[in-house]
Amino acid sequence: MSNRGLSRRSIFSKLVTLLSLCSILNVVGVLVTPAIGGTAPSGARAVGTNRMPQQSESRPAQAEGPPQQAWKDKSLSPDKRADLVIEQMTLDEKIQLVHGSGGFGPPPGGNQPQQPTRSNGGAGWIPGIPRLGIPDINMADSAVGVTRGAARSRYSTGLPSAVAETATWDLNLAYLFGTVIGRELRDQGYNMSIGGGVNITREPRNGRNFEYQGEDPILAGKMIGQLMKGVQDQQIMGDIKHYALNDQETGRNIGNVVLDKRSMRETDLLAFEIGLRDSQAAGVMCSYNKVNGDWACENDYLLSQVLKKTFGFKGWVMSDWGGTHSTTKAAMAGLDQEMPGSGFFGDGLKKAVESGDVPMARLDEMVHRILRSMFAVGVIDNPPVQKVVDVFKGMEDAQHIAEESIVLLKNSNNQLPLNPAAVRSIAVIGSHADVGVLSGGGSAQVDPPGGNAVPPPPGTPPGRNVFGRVVYYPSSPLKAIRAKAPAARVEFDAGTDAALAANLAKNSEIAIVFVNQPTSEGRDSRTLSLPDNQDALVSAVAAANPRTIVVLETGGPVSMPWVNNVAAVLESWYPGISGAPAIANVLFGSVNPSAKLPVTFARSDQDLPHPEIAGINLQAQPPPAGAAAGPGGGRGRLPAFDIPYTEALKVGYKWFDSEKKEPLFPFGFGLSYTTFAYSGLTARGDVVSFTVKNTGKRAGAEVAEVYAGLPASANEPPRRLVGWSKVQLAAGESRTVTVKVEPLFLSIFDVDKDRWELLPGEYQFFVGGSSRSTPLTASVQFPAGEER
Ligand code: BGC
Repeated sequence: MSNRGLSRRSIFSKLVTLLSLCSILNVVGVLVTPAIGGTAPSGARAVGTNRMPQQSESRPAQAEGPPQQAWKDKSLSPDKRADLVIEQMTLDEKIQLVHGSGGFGPPPGGNQPQQPTRSNGGAGWIPGIPRLGIPDINMADSAVGVTRGAARSRYSTGLPSAVAETATWDLNLAYLFGTVIGRELRDQGYNMSIGGGVNITREPRNGRNFEYQGEDPILAGKMIGQLMKGVQDQQIMGDIKHYALNDQETGRNIGNVVLDKRSMRETDLLAFEIGLRDSQAAGVMCSYNKVNGDWACENDYLLSQVLKKTFGFKGWVMSDWGGTHSTTKAAMAGLDQEMPGSGFFGDGLKKAVESGDVPMARLDEMVHRILRSMFAVGVIDNPPVQKVVDVFKGMEDAQHIAEESIVLLKNSNNQLPLNPAAVRSIAVIGSHADVGVLSGGGSAQVDPPGGNAVPPPPGTPPGRNVFGRVVYYPSSPLKAIRAKAPAARVEFDAGTDAALAANLAKNSEIAIVFVNQPTSEGRDSRTLSLPDNQDALVSAVAAANPRTIVVLETGGPVSMPWVNNVAAVLESWYPGISGAPAIANVLFGSVNPSAKLPVTFARSDQDLPHPEIAGINLQAQPPPAGAAAGPGGGRGRLPAFDIPYTEALKVGYKWFDSEKKEPLFPFGFGLSYTTFAYSGLTARGDVVSFTVKNTGKRAGAEVAEVYAGLPASANEPPRRLVGWSKVQLAAGESRTVTVKVEPLFLSIFDVDKDRWELLPGEYQFFVGGSSRSTPLTASVQFPAGEER
């Protein structure tokens, strides 16, 4: 009896022990009810690995969640999963997701309790909902690599500029570019990129052109699409910006772009349309400027009608930083998230929802777009896990992209490549080529390892960021050239005194002059001319040495009054962290250049649609008393003004073709150390075939370009790029190339019908090595009745 009693007590106590063990295990997420969809529940993992725990949390978030988290079922669609989360969300939780909570945050370990402790240090941070297993969104600027590494001693690869990446005309390299960014964001614990600029180069003096993909919407759209795919395939959310028409920095917070709808759809918006279609990017960042009277971030036409309805964009629209101007108007026009703070979409939006000004259904849609993108890209199921960035791989990838992006613009008498065995002396001149290569400034600035190779003068205050500061990556062209020609005397002159530089050039067999054009977010270049008397420097060196080679490090096109007096010109853009070896490899022929210009180089400002940038001479008004610094704040504001894009459809080469102006170097142009011949064009409908032959003595790659002239009834500029193919050919080799042209690329946008139309009539195809060199032509007749 007593034994049986004992044993009953012991069974009971064992049961209690087992039950409490179960509950402990359940709390720590080890033993759980069978997972929906057969997978282990990932709530604790999804939250825990992606952020630092809140101070108040004493146990993993999963324990706080309700017993059923049906959204964990990975077999459900991202949309269904998002809806299942939304069903469980409170109003406050919804509001929390639709605005940022400030960016940056202090470096870990700091004693600043008021600051957000979980921010990963990027430009944007949206706290997640631990109770529901929704991780924080940590965004980093990453147009050309992950930014703001210095504050936390992180390395990020400084890639060549985005316009350089576009100069490769290589979709695989655009994808690689995105892969490097996605990989390094992931390794640093971010789950979203806010890079991906695709503003068209309407204004070649725009300070941000280095972040963008050139002047042609089809080239730009295809390249940004692959770049974003590269990012998102690392399970990092991508974002394409700045939507839309933020094509100049002058007055970006106040300027009103005036442009007709057809031109918008066929130029700037087309680049977004293609890029989003090809990548399914999670985010679109609306821009600072106004478009036809409405701020871009509360512009119903741009956001709701075109982006969401017509393009079918499923992700979310976030404002550029400080680019939100209202609560109800912006929310109802299609803005889904205010960044980086909560001035309009915090308490203001909560009140608007409570009062019914903004229906709950609209707030749910905003949240849905965010959550469904997180599920679709994988940041909830497979959150980033921090590790040390693969520095070596990054530098290797950066060098490869740089080598494929350097455009050979001139090469008289086959001055290049240099023969390392024959060259006896080289003068290397200018642009701090002894220590580094230039990079682009502003929010895209990637902090160089070891700091700026050309540190600012002592006493310069350590700014919060690098707007307006000129940063060089520690990649020394001088050293790279010396390594290539070890037997030669290679000397450096800073180029600050043209006479001294000319003297060194005179006493050297070859002179290589490096010239630069620093550009940055926040300001445009006033002219296409190189700054700091560099034109005079080149002229002086060229007068002293007929074998003068110019290497440009520029954000975009520049004028070259000396071009007829120099032997060779290379455009290296901002060539990134491995820029120096890339430049040296091209100079000495270890790499045969194959890049082509994604932007037209004009002879002078006078040849541009707007010889002067709109608003460039306006004076800033003093800031209102007590205004905070920031966009439109304490720095003072320009008065409101219009930016009339009167060139309309005629962007870049389309302007030069229509106006019959001779560019300095045309769109699509670039030389090689070998030569190519084109023959045998046939066009059947939208399929174009032709043969490219390498007629020189060495292997090389040719970007073969296909342009189309539309029927006269279309009223279009003479030709537009509609396809291309980059062909690698051994010496003497020929290849037949077939390009299938998308009907969209041959269409025009009919505003009255609000759709693209492929007009019937005669289409011309032009094929060749640049927009101005198309030896092959063919025409096809398109019957009536085809439309998209
Ligand atoms: C820029 C954006 C950037 C944001 C966050 C803004 O000033 O226009 O491109 O993503 O700052 O740094």
